[in-house]
Amino acid sequence: MSAPLAAAPARRGIILAGGSGSRLFPLTLPFSKQLMPVYDKPMIYYPLSVLMLAGIREILVITTPHDRPLFERLLGDGSSYGIALSYATQDEPRGLADAYRIGADFVGTNPSCLILGDNLFYGAYLTDMLVNVSARTAGATIFGYHVVDPRSYGVVEIDGTGTKALSLEEKPEKPRSNLAIPGLYFYDGNAPAYAREITPSPRGEIEITDLNRRYLAEGTLHVEVLSRGTAWLDTGTHENLIEAADYIRAVQNRQGLKVACLEEIGLFRGWIDRETIAKNAKAYGKSSYGEYLRMIAAEGVR
Ligand code: TTP
Repeated sequence: MSAPLAAAPARRGIILAGGSGSRLFPLTLPFSKQLMPVYDKPMIYYPLSVLMLAGIREILVITTPHDRPLFERLLGDGSSYGIALSYATQDEPRGLADAYRIGADFVGTNPSCLILGDNLFYGAYLTDMLVNVSARTAGATIFGYHVVDPRSYGVVEIDGTGTKALSLEEKPEKPRSNLAIPGLYFYDGNAPAYAREITPSPRGEIEITDLNRRYLAEGTLHVEVLSRGTAWLDTGTHENLIEAADYIRAVQNRQGLKVACLEEIGLFRGWIDRETIAKNAKAYGKSSYGEYLRMIAAEGVR
């Protein structure tokens, strides 16, 4: 009989929720964009729900120094949702791959997943897809999402197989494809070491595209094209913010199910029980979130 396989190291999650949010000024002068409402929840609930759906329980939240206490007050240590949250700060927006310098000790040599605090994903099969991608422990996985005009994003060009990257471009004038790269990235245990080697770009940032290019050069960069039924919204402008709120409102009101209810996902994953949810519900008073928690605690929707 062969020896049992050692358990694979658990994937760690990072939510990058700093930045200046300057396109939303004056809204974001007093506090972070990622605390702004997207309909009935603070924005950070949505990326946090994605990590939880991917099965990730140990999560680092990176914020600006002055917003950190607000995030801690909102989310605490994560135990209400059955996860372990820790916090770190980024004193200025030095780029997306800076998350792996700040989070180097937290990640260690574990596989990890980085999500931007202003990115929202929702759709059928998303959970299965996230779990499958997360099970891949070697190399990196980025996503491609078809958009009308990808010039303000990182852009990936793929080959005929639909999974192999041919090129990566950062905010290109003449994009080689319509596939924008959303703010969700899965990496193997090399990401912190690779991020350390990146030199800042002409705009002064530690670019995530440079980290992804490293995996591309090694031949270990996977691309998953998100299906047409998946919503990927970012919330950087007033228009985007209201569109995202409208989207969440329409889906929730039609189905009577909440998008990104963290306690519901914790229950679904088996990390908390209904009694814990009933206890948590008290803190939300008469809000629709509180009502929803009481409903789940009493009978469940699954
Ligand atoms: P951006 O939307 O590129 O930047 P921003 O949020 O500062 O907004 P603006 O362009 O209006 O000034 O950032 C995308 C996400 O990444 C957002 O959630 C903030 C986060 N971010 C950081 O936390 N640190 C960084 O160094 C950068 C570049 C972004």
